Amino acid sequence: MAREAVPPEIARHAPLAPMYAHRFPLGAAVEPRHLEGADGHLLAWHFNAVVAENAMKPPRLQPAEGRFDFAAADRIVAFAEERGMTIRGHTLLWHEETPDWFWRAPGGGPASGHLVLERLRAHILAVVGRYRGRVHAWDVVNEVVDPAAPGCLRNDRWLQVVGPRYVEAAFRYAHEADPGARLFVNDFETTQPAKRDCLLGLVRDLRARGVPVHGMGHQMHVDVDRPSAREVDGTLAAFAALGLDNHVTELDMSLGPAPRRAPGDETALLARQAARYGEFFRVFAARPDVKAVTLWGLSDADTWLIRGARQGSGDKPLLFDANRQPKAAYREVAGAAR
Ligand code: G3I
Repeated sequence: MAREAVPPEIARHAPLAPMYAHRFPLGAAVEPRHLEGADGHLLAWHFNAVVAENAMKPPRLQPAEGRFDFAAADRIVAFAEERGMTIRGHTLLWHEETPDWFWRAPGGGPASGHLVLERLRAHILAVVGRYRGRVHAWDVVNEVVDPAAPGCLRNDRWLQVVGPRYVEAAFRYAHEADPGARLFVNDFETTQPAKRDCLLGLVRDLRARGVPVHGMGHQMHVDVDRPSAREVDGTLAAFAALGLDNHVTELDMSLGPAPRRAPGDETALLARQAARYGEFFRVFAARPDVKAVTLWGLSDADTWLIRGARQGSGDKPLLFDANRQPKAAYREVAGAAR
């Protein structure tokens, strides 16, 4: 995006990131299209950190074995570097976003665990190596835990084909590619007690074996009811007690399922959302172990909660409305910085 003057409708509101600059970088998840026009201005004005919502996922970066496509990811990285923004990387391994070719042997049949690990190493060395010293933190593994599974690891193809060692392997490869990068386990519903205990057990075990894990990524796709700010604080404290950094990696706050929303409810829900955003940011600001906070999107004009199957949900989970104007939630987040 050309660095033209910031439009007055954006520049008249105080930028958020400087309010938290003494505490943590404030980021947003974006697609390349958000680097242009009003979204590009909103991003550069209010945020000093960025993550690719989809552009760094394995099927995007390596759609076929050995064929890498860094174009979209590079655009996001360039935008951030031109503006001195910090960059998180998302994600190196996720069962939902592993390209099919990972699982196929060259002859046709299923790939062995050994081959899958070789491919994982090649992928991680290429990706983390390309952005070495530029992406400061990686979500190395995403959503690997399932509290209902024996042993806590999700019963997915990674576990079935490679066995539990794939988690450790992913961290070791990432560290090999960039020894300076901070490496994270990333997951959702980290306040849920059984899930939290599984995650605590996983990182404790990895660290006991000398695996380079530096932090816990808490996605925090929350809603106007749950979880409470107190529960969030308790969860962050539990991970900090292990000596880990906490990153809030995918924060947004749904108004709740559309069928439950009667006409006229929205005003009250947006007020509740604003108050809760304020409470959450007070918790984040008060905890030195919270080292990054990222919103999962820029504005209510374009969020995963209104795309695809959720189209028509009318959800409004972010700090800026569909016209890129600050919501009450923005004002509460700004207020929480004081
Ligand atoms: O790029 C194609 C496009 O070419 C096609 O026309 C369109 C048709 O549906 O699909 C597009 O791809 C979609 C992509 O988002 C880009 O919009 C995929 O179908 C869709 O599955 C994908 O969803 C993403 C999802 O992760 C799965 O990767 C969401 O945008 C993204 O917000 C979401 O993010 C995840 C985090 O990575 C992990 N934590 C949960 C979070 C929310 O689900």
